[in-house]
Amino acid sequence: MIIPLHMSQSFLIDNPRARVALPSLAALFALFVLSGCDGSSGSSDSSLTAGPGADDQPIAEAPAFNTASGFVVVREPGPRLPVEATVEYTDADFDAGLPAIVLQVPDGFDTTTNLPPNFDNLQNVSVMAGELVEVVYRPVDPEGELPGMFPEELLQGSSFDDNFDGTKTFRWRPLQMDVGINAFTVTALDPANDSYRASQTIFIKVELPDDPSTIPNVAPMLDEFRPHTVRVNDPVVIELKGIDLNGDTPILEIPDLPVGGSFNQHPRFAEIYVLKFVPTTTGTLTIDVVARDSIDSALTAEESISISVLAASAFTTTGQPLRALAEVRDLRIGFAALQSFYHRPDGAIYADIAEREFNFVTPENSMKMDQINPEPGRFQFAATDNLVSFAQSADMTVHGHPIIWYRQLPNWIEQAPLTQVEQHMSEYISRLMSRYKDDVTVWDVINEPLADNGSLRDSIWHKAMGESYIDKAFAQARAVAPDAQLLINEFDISMEGPKATALFALIDRMQANDIPLDGIGFQMHFFTSFDQFTELEANFAKVAERDLDIYITELDVSLAQGATLAQQASVYERVVSLCLAQPRCKAIQTWGLTDQYSFRSIFDPLLFNRSYQAKPAYTAVQGVLADTTQ
Ligand code: G3I
Repeated sequence: MIIPLHMSQSFLIDNPRARVALPSLAALFALFVLSGCDGSSGSSDSSLTAGPGADDQPIAEAPAFNTASGFVVVREPGPRLPVEATVEYTDADFDAGLPAIVLQVPDGFDTTTNLPPNFDNLQNVSVMAGELVEVVYRPVDPEGELPGMFPEELLQGSSFDDNFDGTKTFRWRPLQMDVGINAFTVTALDPANDSYRASQTIFIKVELPDDPSTIPNVAPMLDEFRPHTVRVNDPVVIELKGIDLNGDTPILEIPDLPVGGSFNQHPRFAEIYVLKFVPTTTGTLTIDVVARDSIDSALTAEESISISVLAASAFTTTGQPLRALAEVRDLRIGFAALQSFYHRPDGAIYADIAEREFNFVTPENSMKMDQINPEPGRFQFAATDNLVSFAQSADMTVHGHPIIWYRQLPNWIEQAPLTQVEQHMSEYISRLMSRYKDDVTVWDVINEPLADNGSLRDSIWHKAMGESYIDKAFAQARAVAPDAQLLINEFDISMEGPKATALFALIDRMQANDIPLDGIGFQMHFFTSFDQFTELEANFAKVAERDLDIYITELDVSLAQGATLAQQASVYERVVSLCLAQPRCKAIQTWGLTDQYSFRSIFDPLLFNRSYQAKPAYTAVQGVLADTTQ
């Protein structure tokens, strides 16, 4: 249970001042183009947004920047538009004063007899870049005891220092990269019950001084580089990114290149340098990197990265690969592919294990609208083209995901006039599906249409068209790709509940109105604690009764606190068995290949661990698929 409360406090800093910020330029651009006041009609036809032209067509990428084999990697012709970084906080948030304190109250806890802890004397802070911020945190509790406290994520370059008197001091010297509204949150724990907590955020407004020379020039640093495992004699590609908090672009150097290696600045991303080499011996390879300030070349930082190089035998498994076992059952078994895996250090082993084990692949992120169509009329197909090329080289079929979703939408569609959204949806479906209609055999036409209570999500699509957006999307999808399987893909429908009930009602309404629908995607993002297999089996049957196919689309089984790999394997085994027992179950896909890149990597939910070693879950799936009695 969360209860907002308001408090007011003071602080200690160098020297405060304040100014007004501008709205996002992208938002202004989108409105400008959409309203046609830039003189463009978008394109020659009646469409609202120009179709893909020659300038949208991906071009071949130099092999020096990737590990792909068996297909040519293409890249966007121009600068790839990054996914819009969501503007977290604005001046309005800052001007509104200290945010309300947020309480976390254990169920059944009586807050009248035990008032929550809070902080003495905090306020929002406004500084110039280069000035030192110091804020003393003194947690207090109305019942008189001294609360403990801990910071949420520290801001880059900041510290939260213990004064050993019950207080702590937040220290930060923001620089050019921090200009804007920053937030810092500290949580106090009630002395009587540490699950009873109060979180206080402060906003720190950072602005550029009139004289930037007053801002200290700090040494650049290397962006975080996670440990990776690679296979000996494979090409290794490592993208290293320099970070200079003064906002400059550092120069990266490797004094002692691996034998035969190359180290080049990325042709399109100046802050990225690409190291490519082939390790010929096993063991841990340590590579020293120098980050040099582009303003003051004497200002440097030295860091080391390390790669674990294993023999090829370390990546083999016993028994038949999953895809061989699935194919004899006319079943698809697949995974969600990490976007641009061929740009990762371990891209070669990633691709080889994927090709060995899976015959079905979904783009985890590259086909989302903010990636494909970041601006009106602007399309970015390279990452998805590459995945389709990889799938063809690996004899895999492709699962298109997602077409219409309420998340990962570009700002321009969220801000478009509602009266234009239907046409934008129609054009988007047409352009995306027509590009891949010969490559993609299954589409998540509508992804996650249902809210937790079973109502339809209030997405931009629903706002503009009501429930009919679903019917229109499916009707158009069928028209563009008549031979493809069209799915609704949803989570939390594997058990009884409001979403499953609503899903079956939605299916019944669509079928009563002859809306094309071929199957249902059960995402299945489970924890090891999942045990509602009877309900899952019943919901499979309800889908099958409606003459629809079942796709397990995003299976992963996160290790709950204290759970074992054997328990994880058991859940995978039960799910695969239920699929094999249901004739309408056509596919099993895990949401990722290795724990290394899972969106839930902290819970190690997949079949292969971070070093690409098959886990008990893999062996369990292999065993069920091989058991011809099932
Ligand atoms: O590409 C940008 C990068 O340029 C930027 O620097 C970085 C930091 O802001 O963000 C990167 O985009 C992130 C993207 O993953 C690629 O890593 C997005 O912020 C992040 O939100 C996105 O998360 C994905 C999430 O869907 C939302 O799209 C997860 O990787 C992906 O596993 C997850 O998958 C979804 C399915 O599509 C639908 N079903 C649920 C499933 C899990 O949420």
